[in-house]
Amino acid sequence: MNVKKFFYWAKILVRNLLRLDRFFWKDLKKYIISIYVIMVLDVWFNFISRWSQAIIINNLIQIANWVTLERRTIIILAVVLVATLILPSFINIVSWFYRLVIWRKIDELINLTFIRKKASFDLNQLENTANTTLFQRVQENMWRFRSYFYTQFDISGSIFNLVAILFTLILIKPVVALVILVFTLPEAISKLSISKHVWTIDNLHWPIKKKYNYLKGLFFQWNPIMDIKFSGNIDFFTNKIRKIIDPFLIEQYKNDKKRSINSAMTIFISKVGIIISAFILIYAVYNKEMQIGTFVFLYGLIASFQSSLSFFFWYIVQQYEDNLYVEEYFQILDMKNEMRFSQNPIVLPAKITPKIELRNVSFSYPDKDKEILHKLNLTINPWEKIAIVWVNWAGKSTLVKLLTRFYDTTGWEVLIDWNNIKDLDLQSWWSQVSYMQQDTPSYMFEVKQSIAMSDTTRNIDMKKVENAAQMSLAHDFIKEFKNWYAQQLWRNFDDGESLSWWQWQRMNLARIFYKDPQVYILDEPTSAMDAEAESKIFETLANLPKDKTVIFISHRFSTIRQADRICVIEDWNIIEVGSHKELIANNKSYKRLFELQAKGYA
Ligand SMILES: Nc1ncnc2c1ncn2[C@@H]1O[C@H](COP(=O)(O)OP(=O)(O)OP(=O)(O)O)[C@@H](O)[C@H]1O
Ligand SMILES: [Mg+2]
Repeated sequence: MNVKKFFYWAKILVRNLLRLDRFFWKDLKKYIISIYVIMVLDVWFNFISRWSQAIIINNLIQIANWVTLERRTIIILAVVLVATLILPSFINIVSWFYRLVIWRKIDELINLTFIRKKASFDLNQLENTANTTLFQRVQENMWRFRSYFYTQFDISGSIFNLVAILFTLILIKPVVALVILVFTLPEAISKLSISKHVWTIDNLHWPIKKKYNYLKGLFFQWNPIMDIKFSGNIDFFTNKIRKIIDPFLIEQYKNDKKRSINSAMTIFISKVGIIISAFILIYAVYNKEMQIGTFVFLYGLIASFQSSLSFFFWYIVQQYEDNLYVEEYFQILDMKNEMRFSQNPIVLPAKITPKIELRNVSFSYPDKDKEILHKLNLTINPWEKIAIVWVNWAGKSTLVKLLTRFYDTTGWEVLIDWNNIKDLDLQSWWSQVSYMQQDTPSYMFEVKQSIAMSDTTRNIDMKKVENAAQMSLAHDFIKEFKNWYAQQLWRNFDDGESLSWWQWQRMNLARIFYKDPQVYILDEPTSAMDAEAESKIFETLANLPKDKTVIFISHRFSTIRQADRICVIEDWNIIEVGSHKELIANNKSYKRLFELQAKGYA
């Protein structure tokens, strides 16, 4: 690494460290200051201890030479010696205790901040492949924050120690200070240059590592394990994993080897520095320029200097490596939301069902040429129960993600009560809507909590929970549970019950009903249910209070016949609109497809 680069990274390192300190300062101020104070005290205790040892030795040599000393001098020296030996142990215990407190706290702060930041991003940013790699890498290396934060104490400790020793050496024997510094330099340079390499390997291999994580992850899920076993594919998978990881290991091995050889060589050079310094000191004693006690003192300092310096570089390398990940963490924290929001957003009034309009809406996914929607026009009036079916083009789920502004349109607008969705206060819009995604998440809590997840601003209202479960038909199986609505879900938890997907769909629908919104947007909510249940659910939806809008997306024609209006979309355009009866009478695509599917059911 060249000098310019080194200083560049040193600057970033210090900047990140200060940023991290500021990050934790409010919560950990007391501990950080205490640790620093203890560190300075420790260095001084160490010094005083060594110095008193030297004086004791000098005095003992005089005693050995029949010079009588005042007893008081010896007693004072002994007391100082004992005190400096015992006190550091005590204060170091306090320091370690504080370090443990910091250890736990850092984890919590770092993780929660990361989760919050991630949740603030829009869908485009979350789905972006480069971002997902970044998120995963930072997630996997969260532990480095602790190490990064801790190492600053070790580095500072080493610096205090080194400065104190250097200062003493320069006062007593400057040439020794110079020798030690010069001979330790190669070790420093070699350590710093290899460290960058380690990170690059790790970085380069991330796309591969993601595949590795995926393959390994399969063995943490029951279904893949059973399938892999059943198809006799265990060897296939372990070989695949080995093939992925082997080149990585080989490179790591080469790097570790290079590191070890460099270490051996440079450590040898720095040891030569110690030997030369030792000779300089012995020579001084030989010439009667130095007393034995002073020799022991200085020799001890040199050894301590050398090991402190060595550790110092080790810590710097550690810090340098960790910094690369910490830098990425801050990069995420600094990432701005790509979606633009209005400075003065329009807040929609509560409990008023808005009109929803798609005007000439086009959309394509980022980095994809293909248009998913092309100049689509659709008006959904308040209170309408509308079903949307697509004939020969995919884009249903994409469409509803535009209505909820998970994505922004690439051409023209989505209007909510004549307001461009981009000018709205999104929370005020979202609070009016219950949106069931096609692959909506299931929450593995107790039944009542899983249902009440759509409104956590209030305590769980059991009457509403049961009512919602009745409407979604989830009550049918909840009543069979040992603990009813207090039943823990998911077998992975103690005493938990796992559900089938059709059961989850009922649970998730109950969650939608519990919110009691003005607008329901349902993306194939009954796809896993049997025909009878599906028809009952649709009846419930059709009979919701009049002032509710229901937008129901499906490709199953049998489920939508009770809708006020059915919208058939083909090649980006609405080709037919009307009630079931009207569309059958129309005798076009809808009728053809309806009869085709009906035949399948018959
Ligand atoms: N996040 C995404 N990034 C890029 N392309 C996507 C993304 N999500 C969906 N697509 C693509 O957009 C097209 C439309 O997908 P969409 O999920 O909207 O269809 P759909 O009509 O809901 O289909 P299905 O009947 O399977 O639910 C598909 O070709 C799909 O591969
Ligand atoms: Mg879909």
